Amino acid sequence: MHTAIVPPKGVWWKPAGKQERMWVTIAFVWCMVLFAMMPLWHLKGGQNPSGIRGRVEPKDYSERVQRFIAEYQVGEEAGIPVVAPPPGSDVYMVGQMWSWKPVLKLQQGASYVLHLSALDVNHGFGLIPANINFQIVPGYDYGLKITPNEAGEYKVLCNEFCGIGHHRMLGKIIVEPAASVADVGWEVSK
Ligand code: CUA
Repeated sequence: MHTAIVPPKGVWWKPAGKQERMWVTIAFVWCMVLFAMMPLWHLKGGQNPSGIRGRVEPKDYSERVQRFIAEYQVGEEAGIPVVAPPPGSDVYMVGQMWSWKPVLKLQQGASYVLHLSALDVNHGFGLIPANINFQIVPGYDYGLKITPNEAGEYKVLCNEFCGIGHHRMLGKIIVEPAASVADVGWEVSK
């Protein structure tokens, strides 16, 4: 029986065997590979978000969204304004318990800067079925350069738990077709 007072017999103080040294070496080399991949992924990885992130007071962002809606509103869907901004412009969407506002009507093949922010708590912007996901944080304005290349209706769901109405937090982005664009999928450009 071993106790803390009588240490177990062992060989831990002897030098490591050949196989153990080999495995430690392999593990160390692999650690270095993964370590090098972190900056490489950051610089080369296509999954990195484009655009800028800046600070904004939720109140100011809310006012900016209201101005945007007032300027380009073309309709309403279930109480949510539908907004059709001109190609190339800055477009705004805001997450708030528990809705996304407004519904955006974009043109296929046109580029926009999509601004995202939240007014209350963290939300998750999930564009379905394009599978583009961003964490939306109050106090931060996410300016994302986007070029929607495929026409259709996209759902914006919330993928960050934000309270009792989380599962009902659905928004929409409509991409209207342009005949000249052959590419398929969303392009997130630098
Ligand atoms: Cu917003 Cu979950």
